[in-house]
Amino acid sequence: QVEFEYDGPSMKTQVPGPRSQELTKQLGDIQNVGAVHFFCNYEESRGNYLVDVDGNRMLDVYTQISSIPIGYNHPALLKLMTNPNNLSAFVNRPALGILPPENFPDKLTESLLSVAPSGMTRVQTMACGSCSNENAYKAMFIWYRNKERGHNTPSDEDLSSCMINQGPGCPDLSILSFMGGFHGRTMGCLATTHSKAIHKLDVPSFDWPIAPFPKLQYPLEEFTRENAQEEARCLEEVEDLIVKWRQKGKPVAGIVIEPIQAEGGDNHASPDFFKNLRNIARKHGCAFHVDEVQTGGGATGKFWAHEHWGMDDPADIVSFSKKLLTGGYYHRDELQADKPYRIFNTWMGDPSKNLFLAEVLNVIRRENLLEEVTRSGKALLHGLYELQAQYPGLLSRARGQGTFCAIDIRDDATRNSIILKARDKGVLLGGCGERSIRFRPALVFKEYHVHLFLNIFNDVLAQLK
Ligand SMILES: Cc1ncc(COP(=O)(O)O)c(C=O)c1O
Repeated sequence: QVEFEYDGPSMKTQVPGPRSQELTKQLGDIQNVGAVHFFCNYEESRGNYLVDVDGNRMLDVYTQISSIPIGYNHPALLKLMTNPNNLSAFVNRPALGILPPENFPDKLTESLLSVAPSGMTRVQTMACGSCSNENAYKAMFIWYRNKERGHNTPSDEDLSSCMINQGPGCPDLSILSFMGGFHGRTMGCLATTHSKAIHKLDVPSFDWPIAPFPKLQYPLEEFTRENAQEEARCLEEVEDLIVKWRQKGKPVAGIVIEPIQAEGGDNHASPDFFKNLRNIARKHGCAFHVDEVQTGGGATGKFWAHEHWGMDDPADIVSFSKKLLTGGYYHRDELQADKPYRIFNTWMGDPSKNLFLAEVLNVIRRENLLEEVTRSGKALLHGLYELQAQYPGLLSRARGQGTFCAIDIRDDATRNSIILKARDKGVLLGGCGERSIRFRPALVFKEYHVHLFLNIFNDVLAQLK
């Protein structure tokens, strides 16, 4: 890996450089390019370094919104592409729900099932994170209605009323989500997303309950008493909302939550909070859906962030995407849809991604990458604590688990300016929440990458002070 990788950032122009600007203009005639940062040269990118079309090479601490598990152009993945036995999987994308390839069960066993969360032996693949959550919500509603009926045979009235979007066929059920949560941008997911107004504006939504997510003080170990009180307040509110929505005639079929709210600002909660929430879900007959789209895949130092809770039965549904390369969700047996075509679409994932994932998992095991993440994460958080002590008016609330770390900047404008200045010095960072910077390196981000990053970050902060 060391030989394969570059030895540091190398900057030739400001970013975006002239070639990127030209391409942005060209693409602007075709699409909205407001969100485009710059154009990339993926052939030249390696390991932790992303190269752009102007020849700038940057240390990537954001990795395509946290979705590159083992760096760019990893040799193990390139090798997979050269194996003639794999070619048909890349060339022929099947409609997996009706015509799966011969090796599909074996490949699922080798990849996704080999890292299945505790208590789960079933997995449904999907294309992206939103699509996974959207279908997971449907699975919870189907499960809930069959439970209410006491059987799974719909009445004639169910069948006719659902065709015109009316009850009882389209029941008034709800999903409880949390303020600051992010679960995607499709219609159902968006009703449970509460991170930024721009995601939701002008889109009709459901009247579903929204609970407060604990606003904790950091470092967590210094504020255990205050944080426990805050978590108790939020849990109480969850129970009140479940009761209120049942009385309104819109019972809560499921609760959805991220183990660490990511897009909403890297908000943490304790294992006890999640254990209690899981129990509340059980007590009220709601399914418990843990959205690991961003936290899953090793960045917290465990393969799943929910493993930090130490539970045998952490969830009814765990959804994933990003570092897992394919989207999808694991579920307990009871949440298996009872009839064909209820949880279905044309592709239902992409089997070539399972080949890559199996190889990614081999690399993670062979190179002990979860231990590496824990080690790099400690160095990163320690470095952030030091910088926070050095620049108290500028930085606060350093926090993290593994390399899944974040820090708050004094205001939104300064945060954005730090991200741009760091980029011009060869470090790619992402923002989250109102004024946080989130760190989302690949699993191959070693301690020396941490130090490289901290030095450059320190230079940027020193300029701002
Ligand atoms: C926790 C979480 N859930 C769902 C999603 C949506 O995934 P996608 O963008 O692949 O639709 C994201 C994306 O950032 C996410 O972070």
